[in-house]
Amino acid sequence: MKKLVLLCILFLTSSLFANEIFYTGSVKNLYETSKSNSTKGRLLPTSKVEILGEENNRYKIKIVGFVKEGVEHALYFTQKNRILVAGLSKNNSFEVLSSEKTGNEDFSQLELVAFIDKDDLTKDLNSLYVKAAELYGNNCGICHSAHDKKEFTANLWPSVMKSMLSRTALTKEDNYLVVQYLQKHSKDME
Ligand code: HEC
Repeated sequence: MKKLVLLCILFLTSSLFANEIFYTGSVKNLYETSKSNSTKGRLLPTSKVEILGEENNRYKIKIVGFVKEGVEHALYFTQKNRILVAGLSKNNSFEVLSSEKTGNEDFSQLELVAFIDKDDLTKDLNSLYVKAAELYGNNCGICHSAHDKKEFTANLWPSVMKSMLSRTALTKEDNYLVVQYLQKHSKDME
């Protein structure tokens, strides 16, 4: 009986977070197991993760994205532009939950299982966008007014930011967040 109660408690705590959705507040390392220390990918800020469970103080998560044939180590947010969800190492062996061809025959939609540390996750995606917009406005609106996010396409924003980054106090980490924000609100999105 005692054993059963214990099992029930274990089950309850491990499923407490199951199927909850979070968004990454920073670049997060992706691991193939709950214990591994070798990073097999990097998940970019504002990416959606679904919690599948908890193991050894890490979350087991599901991430979804599109991969282009021949470029399987880049997981994209859409099939029409290069907004990264995650960069994966070429020799990764993440569990693939599903892989489906999309209407666009070069692309497949993938569902991957990975492990991440529990920090820097939020349910409030909008708070991340607010922070990014502030960083952008405060740093890119000093010498000229900040260029509207709709002025450039998602594919152009990374190079626009890169070309001006050295003129600002933005860190590399800030830049990842700001680029995601600008790309996801760019001319060719929504
Ligand atoms: C220290 C001043 C300064 C800061 C800060 C600054 N810029 Fe600029 N920006 C300029 C100047 C000067 C130009 C004119 C062209 C040049 O000098 O390259 C310019 C031009 C541009 C252009 C037009 C480029 C073109 O070829 O027409 C864009 C877009 C731009 N900046 C975006 C940004 C973004 C994004 C940031 C923040 C990462 C930023 N700027 C921060 C000074 C700045």
